[in-house]
Amino acid sequence: MKLIVFLMSMGMLVYAADGYKVYQKHCMSCHVEMMEKSEVLKKFKTLKAPPMVEVSNRLKGNIILKEPDEMVKRRVVIAFIKDYIENPSIDHSMCEVGALDNFGIMPSLKGKLSDDEREAVSQWVYDRYKGVQF
Ligand code: HEC
Repeated sequence: MKLIVFLMSMGMLVYAADGYKVYQKHCMSCHVEMMEKSEVLKKFKTLKAPPMVEVSNRLKGNIILKEPDEMVKRRVVIAFIKDYIENPSIDHSMCEVGALDNFGIMPSLKGKLSDDEREAVSQWVYDRYKGVQF
């Protein structure tokens, strides 16, 4: 039993590490990992994209299930991120209008990440900010 728990936590660690590596390679150049809201307002003009802590919190706040279920919600948010990486668009973005004017729409990363990498980084975006408010 202890061994199983140990192996499961190892598996999760490996997954988390992968997602973070994908983030560092493909997302970090535009989305900074952590930034306070007050700092974002100050540096707004110099940022290339909303910080990832903001993206994660906005998606979790905007995607509301009729029957609240943490696991289902996690899957739905992850599916949104996974899709957005390849198909960013004005119709899908949850960014405020002012922010969109400033940043423009995210360029598609289609073909740059494998399906596994998109899954791992999307899980990371969800899990990294558990309990971390923006
Ligand atoms: C070249 C810059 C750039 C890169 C690289 C980039 N993004 Fe973005 N991203 C943006 C910008 C700008 C926005 C805000 C406008 C929009 O919603 O399209 C954005 C928005 C998003 C959104 C939607 C947020 C919302 O509120 O609707 C998600 C999700 C997202 N990015 C995830 C990622 C992930 C995951 C990666 C890495 C795999 C990544 N981005 C890489 C520029 C980038």
